[in-house]
Amino acid sequence: MKVLVTGGSGFVGQRLCQALVEADHIPLVVSRAPDKARSRLPEQALVRQSVADFADQSPSAIVNLAGEPIAEGRWTEKKKKELLQSRIEITRDVVKLCEQLETPPAVLVSASAVGYYGDQGSRDVTEQTTPHDEFGHRLCRAWEAEAVKAESFGVRVAILRIGLVLDAGGGMLAKTTPVFKLGLGGKLGDGKQYMPWVHREDIVGMIMFLLEREDLSGPFNASAPNPVTNAEFTRALGRALNRPAILPAPAPALKLAFGEMSRLLLTGAKMLPRRFEEAGFRFRYERLDEALAAIFRS
Ligand SMILES: NC(=O)c1ccc[n+]([C@@H]2O[C@H](COP(=O)([O-])OP(=O)(O)OC[C@H]3O[C@@H](n4cnc5c(N)ncnc54)[C@H](OP(=O)(O)O)[C@@H]3O)[C@@H](O)[C@H]2O)c1
Repeated sequence: MKVLVTGGSGFVGQRLCQALVEADHIPLVVSRAPDKARSRLPEQALVRQSVADFADQSPSAIVNLAGEPIAEGRWTEKKKKELLQSRIEITRDVVKLCEQLETPPAVLVSASAVGYYGDQGSRDVTEQTTPHDEFGHRLCRAWEAEAVKAESFGVRVAILRIGLVLDAGGGMLAKTTPVFKLGLGGKLGDGKQYMPWVHREDIVGMIMFLLEREDLSGPFNASAPNPVTNAEFTRALGRALNRPAILPAPAPALKLAFGEMSRLLLTGAKMLPRRFEEAGFRFRYERLDEALAAIFRS
């Protein structure tokens, strides 16, 4: 089938497009820079600049991943606007396409993030948990609400509340590994904040699972069943790289350096993939040590 992918040139999107091709599907990738994107994608992928450009292709499914990177730089008012607009506008385009097509796609799998829940301390967080109201929550809530509008055109909508995606070549490990390799790694603040994580293979597996399972819709926590605290993550990464990780970054220094964005580093949610487990999704990587060992082995 033809699967339209926004953000297909990104860290998750590139691996998803490979998996789609391996399963005999054709990825239709929306990218602001098609030539650059093409060089990162399988040759079977068709790349165009906007969602509307694919109206003639009548995709059977849509995966919506595009958005301005959230963990880069301070959250100035301008940056916050970009974070929101870059997600809302393309999601609106996706819904518009669903409205216009004679045969709308059967399913839309749309990204959101663990940030939907805001700071939750150490309590277990399922899809039923009441979120904490803060910028991350408002951003994800608006993004999800836009995607859900596709339901009025008969489209099944599944939302992925994604945890930290781990693999080589991108995401948070691309930023932290060099620091840890220099022996300069350490916990952030008191290290008690939870960091729900997911291996990139499993997030791609979850997307494929939701594309296929016609009985599934609504929000899904997209992270491994064993979330860890920042202190545990720090120790596991130090072990995987065989380096000490004993230089903590104090909370006041992070707040000074990153302003409100430091909430991403200093707060978290012990997110559990309750609905994926109930639906019978099989994780390849359930434990952080196994995931990191596989990543650094390859
Ligand atoms: N990676 C994680 O740990 C993680 C965790 C939670 C949630 N998520 C969410 O999951 C989605 C996919 O993650 P990812 O790591 O694959 O993201 P990514 O590598 O940053 O890729 C996202 C893609 O979005 C497009 N994009 C970037 N800025 C944009 C803007 N201002 N306007 C329109 N499009 C823009 C880019 O495509 P072009 O340059 O080709 O247009 C980019 O390839 C993202 O929305 C992210 O917020 C990721």
